[in-house]
Amino acid sequence: MTTGTPVTPLLTATGLTRSYRLPRRVPWERPQVRHAVRDVGLTLPEGGHLGIVGESGSGKSTLLRLLLALERADAGTVRYRDRAVAGRDLRWFRREVQVVLQDPLDSLDPRGSVRDSIAEPLECLRIPGDHDARVAELLTAVGLEPDAAQRYPHEFSGGQRQRIAIARALAPQPAVLVGDEPFSALDASVRAQIIDLVRDLAARFGLSLILVSHDIGVVQQLCDELLVLKDGAVVESGSTAAILDAPEHPYTQALLRAVPALPT
Ligand SMILES: Nc1ncnc2c1ncn2[C@@H]1O[C@H](COP(=O)(O)OP(=O)(O)OP(=O)(O)O)[C@@H](O)[C@H]1O
Ligand SMILES: [Mg+2]
Repeated sequence: MTTGTPVTPLLTATGLTRSYRLPRRVPWERPQVRHAVRDVGLTLPEGGHLGIVGESGSGKSTLLRLLLALERADAGTVRYRDRAVAGRDLRWFRREVQVVLQDPLDSLDPRGSVRDSIAEPLECLRIPGDHDARVAELLTAVGLEPDAAQRYPHEFSGGQRQRIAIARALAPQPAVLVGDEPFSALDASVRAQIIDLVRDLAARFGLSLILVSHDIGVVQQLCDELLVLKDGAVVESGSTAAILDAPEHPYTQALLRAVPALPT
């Protein structure tokens, strides 16, 4: 039987909640609390491409930090396959789930060579093998020359740096690639190239994706499932095509109106 095979969830989040206590403006004021993420659940199936959209401040980056266990949730759990993502030693999880940020310089070491930046996760996660060969292979995979390894991040353009950051994220052969606005700092033509690159790499390596964007157009091109966040809570979720075709929530409708021309 080939039909009816259940799709294994890779990453599952339940009830994720996180609030921040804001600094008091005057000593007698009661501390204000900002509810950044409220009771968010999601499931990323193996091979799934999930987009998370919402306006600035809607909690997208906070949700990613919770999913990546870079920050502790006030409540809720994250599971990877059958294992809770919790505890001190998360190296096993870092091998599986890697992130690309908006500004590649946030993940590249400006004083180290490109080789150093790409090989660092291999060393930190104690992944055996010939790291120089792996770096060369990764540079080729992201469309750069292997001799880029000896150069430094500042010698490259923004688009090339984002390619290097992607190579670094792919170094440990993760199953899931998470992106926090990985395209939004790039010029339009370069953005289109990097979107194509991520799509090709996802297909080639069977990657599952979680992509945060304030731009529904980007998510439309890469993601089959969509989660719409407003004020830290999910207001709509489901297949991207269905939501874009008939957005139910007025907030989603407003987000869609903010995109001038969706490519068809
Ligand atoms: N460390 C923090 N301390 C206090 N407040 C925070 C902190 N991190 C996030 N917030 C607040 O939580 C809310 C959600 O922020 P978050 O950065 O997750 O939004 P976002 O959707 O990623 O926005 P953007 O599109 O601008 O990146 C915002 O109101 C933000 O000010
Ligand atoms: Mg953000």
